[in-house]
Amino acid sequence: MAAGDQLPSVRSLCQSRKVSPATVLKAYETLEAEYLIESRPRSGYYVRARRQQPMPPRTSRPKAQSTRLEVSDLVFQTLEASRNREVVPLGSAFPSPTQFPWPKLARYLGSSARHLDPWSTIESLPPGSVELRQQIAKRYLRLGMTVGIEQIVVTAGALEALSLALQCVTRPGDTIAIESPTFYGCLQAAQRLGLHVVEIPMHPTEGLDIEALEASIVKFPIRACWFMTTLQHPTGATLSQTRKRELVRLLASHDIPLIEDDAYSELQFASKPEPPAKAFDKAGRVLHCGSFSKCLAPGYRLGWVAAGRYSADLSRRKIEASIATSLPVQQGIAQMLRHGGYETHLISLRRNLAASQLAALESLQRHFPVGYRVAAPRGGYFLWVECGTRVDSLDVHRRALDFGITIAPGPIFSARQQFKNYLRLNTGHPWTNAMEQATQKLGHLLRRY
Ligand SMILES: Cc1ncc(COP(=O)(O)O)c(C=O)c1O
Repeated sequence: MAAGDQLPSVRSLCQSRKVSPATVLKAYETLEAEYLIESRPRSGYYVRARRQQPMPPRTSRPKAQSTRLEVSDLVFQTLEASRNREVVPLGSAFPSPTQFPWPKLARYLGSSARHLDPWSTIESLPPGSVELRQQIAKRYLRLGMTVGIEQIVVTAGALEALSLALQCVTRPGDTIAIESPTFYGCLQAAQRLGLHVVEIPMHPTEGLDIEALEASIVKFPIRACWFMTTLQHPTGATLSQTRKRELVRLLASHDIPLIEDDAYSELQFASKPEPPAKAFDKAGRVLHCGSFSKCLAPGYRLGWVAAGRYSADLSRRKIEASIATSLPVQQGIAQMLRHGGYETHLISLRRNLAASQLAALESLQRHFPVGYRVAAPRGGYFLWVECGTRVDSLDVHRRALDFGITIAPGPIFSARQQFKNYLRLNTGHPWTNAMEQATQKLGHLLRRY
């Protein structure tokens, strides 16, 4: 079919192919997710025009060496700039807060607080509320995984989970393997705990280079790994199931624990999300860290870790760190998961995020100078954009701020301030005119280099 052609109606396709409307709709949704067709309201589905697609960013090439960290103030400056609701939040780390079920959350939180059994404040000390851990265990079951509630420790967001996990498996002065680029929270946590890091190369869509990891394991005394195997931050890459299995097998053969940072897994666009590497862990060496911050309740600060053989130690460290996580919040979220239509909310959130990712990619095509490279992640709300080699993203960051636009500059995602010509753009907000004008402005700025 040619660009602009209308696809057959759902009804006619059902008749001609002898299939159900659900099957046709599913097929059309799949084609839409691949950007091959588009739906037009009250009109039907049409074949999309194909523009020349930009190439994905290049595979990263960090130096194979162990680095002691000094994370720059830049991370805080970038976070600070995104606080103001008047700026165009292309540099924000958060999805638009307007996309969450606040009234429902408030109802469940209120009712949990009203019906709180006073004794539960003591009984629910770490590992945490039984109701919540049961609900989290059920989410694992949906992915085909059996994770007992005794393994799950409730934390204040994924960041606390990750930090406690790191404390469980390392001592100051140890070396850990991380991805390059990586989430700046990982760099900060490693710095705080006095760890050295070895950066492992990443392919922008296929994810971690496991062969390079294997070579680093031979060369350096790696005590633990911190990897985002699904919707990696900032690239959006997801390791295939086969590669996740290989990763777990490799680490098991060297007795190295894996801290799996899985803050974005619920934001996979596919109707059947892929399980984490933890699914292949037979020996309890994977500490899988999850969160409700990105998918259900930002600001409630609720996360967890399924810590395998480290659960008891992690639970004690949680008590040492902060006694417990707010119980009304734990109970409220547990009720929301049980009764509040979490799955329906997720479906609409993922659909919105997929739509704004698509709008953002198209906007880049319209406004960015040719030669930039980007891949479309299969979920989440970040684009990792490689610009021309002369681009200085720190300079772009400063200049864009003058126009009320934020971006996240590449060097904040690296232990050695690499990725000078990369930007992370946030697509987690509805794609408004202001966003469109902001990418146009960024396009102008990029042409200056
Ligand atoms: C990859 C990654 N892990 C963990 C976190 C922290 O999650 P939480 O807000 O649940 O602490 C973030 C937040 O930005 C993140 O991007």
